[in-house]
Amino acid sequence: KDIALLGVPIEVGASQKGALMGPAALRTAGIVPLLESLDFSVTDHGDILRRELTFTDEAPPPNAKHYREIKAWTGETAQRAYAMAKSGAIPVFLGGDHSLSMGSVSGVARHWHAQGRELFVLWLDAHADYNTPATTITGNMHGMSGAFLCGEPGLDDLLPRALRSPIAPRQLGLLGLRSVDRLEKELLGQRDVWIADMRRIDEFGVGVLIREFIERVSARNGVLHVSLDVDFLDPVSAPGVGTTVSGGATYREAHLVMEMLQDSGLVRSLDLVELNPFLDNRGLSARTVVELVGSLFGQQIHDRPTPSNAVV
Ligand code: ARG
Ligand code: MN
Ligand code: MN
Ligand code: MN
Repeated sequence: KDIALLGVPIEVGASQKGALMGPAALRTAGIVPLLESLDFSVTDHGDILRRELTFTDEAPPPNAKHYREIKAWTGETAQRAYAMAKSGAIPVFLGGDHSLSMGSVSGVARHWHAQGRELFVLWLDAHADYNTPATTITGNMHGMSGAFLCGEPGLDDLLPRALRSPIAPRQLGLLGLRSVDRLEKELLGQRDVWIADMRRIDEFGVGVLIREFIERVSARNGVLHVSLDVDFLDPVSAPGVGTTVSGGATYREAHLVMEMLQDSGLVRSLDLVELNPFLDNRGLSARTVVELVGSLFGQQIHDRPTPSNAVV
């Protein structure tokens, strides 16, 4: 059981500065010793360094802020992600804002595609991040990652073709939504993305919904990438994020999601994004995220998990 950590301190995809401190805060909160205590052998590859990235000087598309810098991060992240996945380890990406997933998911998807496996992506987020340059209000690229990964038009040159591996919209699942822009909602309405917004969570509970999504993945013999945006959580448990939205997943709901994902045995890679230590309350959000990582990778309250044939 190997885990490979990579810090991706990108912050220009977001509106607020500070997410570049995320990887350091997650390490300070103890992510490495926690994973080691769960019997993983952890290799920390450190952070991608901005000064080592190669910037191009092409004309950027409209409505995509800091396009050239994000293109540089995306290319490097995608290559590193592909190599990490190929090594057989579970790659864990420490963000950095959510634009990093354009690289991380592209890289791991390319690996699984070469193995003949479909990669499903579970996006735990208050937002859909399904804007394109044509639908965005803000131009912030962290709001475009999902659309890019599904091959929506507008960012076609962000990654060289050889590094791209788009997923089909039916391979994407959005859990925790409570803030979607008007044109973004219209676009999503035309796509077969699996969506469980907060209203569905209130009505059915996260347990039922996560089972439904896991069923979708296993029905296709797929594997799963989890992309955890800190704003998935209610700001009470995780205030350290630039785009808090009230009415989010509770601490307990989030742990149950992670525990059920662990039970599924399908998770092969993970993003931890949007943590902004500058906005955090004495490390509360960083510690909450690290505790969730524990549940995702097998930490249990006691050693008698619910049997899989339990009547529910
Ligand atoms: N939908 C808004 C936008 O496009 C917010 C996106 C927030 N994304 C995030 N990764 N926190 O700007
Ligand atoms: Mn390099
Ligand atoms: Mn997001
Ligand atoms: Mn978000």
